[in-house]
Amino acid sequence: MQEMLKVAMPKGRIYKQAFKLFRRAGLPMPDDSGDDSRRLIVTFPEANMEFILAKPVDVPTYVEYGVADIGVVGKDVLMEENRDVYELLDLGIARCRMSVIALPDWQPVLNPRVATKYPQVASQYFRERGQQVEVIKLNGSIELAPLIGLADRIVDMVETGQTLKENGLVEYEEIFPITSRLIANRVSYRMKNDRIQQLCDALQATISLPE
Ligand code: PRP
Repeated sequence: MQEMLKVAMPKGRIYKQAFKLFRRAGLPMPDDSGDDSRRLIVTFPEANMEFILAKPVDVPTYVEYGVADIGVVGKDVLMEENRDVYELLDLGIARCRMSVIALPDWQPVLNPRVATKYPQVASQYFRERGQQVEVIKLNGSIELAPLIGLADRIVDMVETGQTLKENGLVEYEEIFPITSRLIANRVSYRMKNDRIQQLCDALQATISLPE
């Protein structure tokens, strides 16, 4: 009898794509494993897996503390949270990029302000370029900041570019391409190595196949 594997899954954008990938990798999960219900723990006995449906930013925390053995998380969150976990696999889903964005008439200013959901990543990025900026942490709708004069630039995610287009903003520089990653708790990775490795192999084989 295999041990139960606890998986932290991010609710929202990544969720459906991650489930679809897990199913394609041969895990016996139902088609309708949507996150529209309010349930926070979903068990799939056939797969001997338990899914913890978490806020994306909290996934690395659950995995670091070992309440989840593995997790699915965006590289953006992984970089920002900087938790002590293993990054096992690039799942190649939820592809987007983290970019520096501003109004089209943006000009360098004295004491520039940058608004972002990713203060650690943004600070490091500007520090490495020798640029001194004041980073302002926001929790969403980051594109508002340059529109209403809170910041002259933002660091945010771009997927389709629709949000930028609809708000008259321009992408000045791509910082990193972003995809979702499979991460593991360090102890779980040792104790449940066969199980986790099996899952990694199945996912890896699936990722390289056309849908
Ligand atoms: C994300 C991101 C951008 C938008 C990019 O926001 O912060 O605002 O999606 O997607 P697009 O290029 O396809 O338009 P999200 O919808 O997660 O919500 P938030 O603004 O609350 O962060």
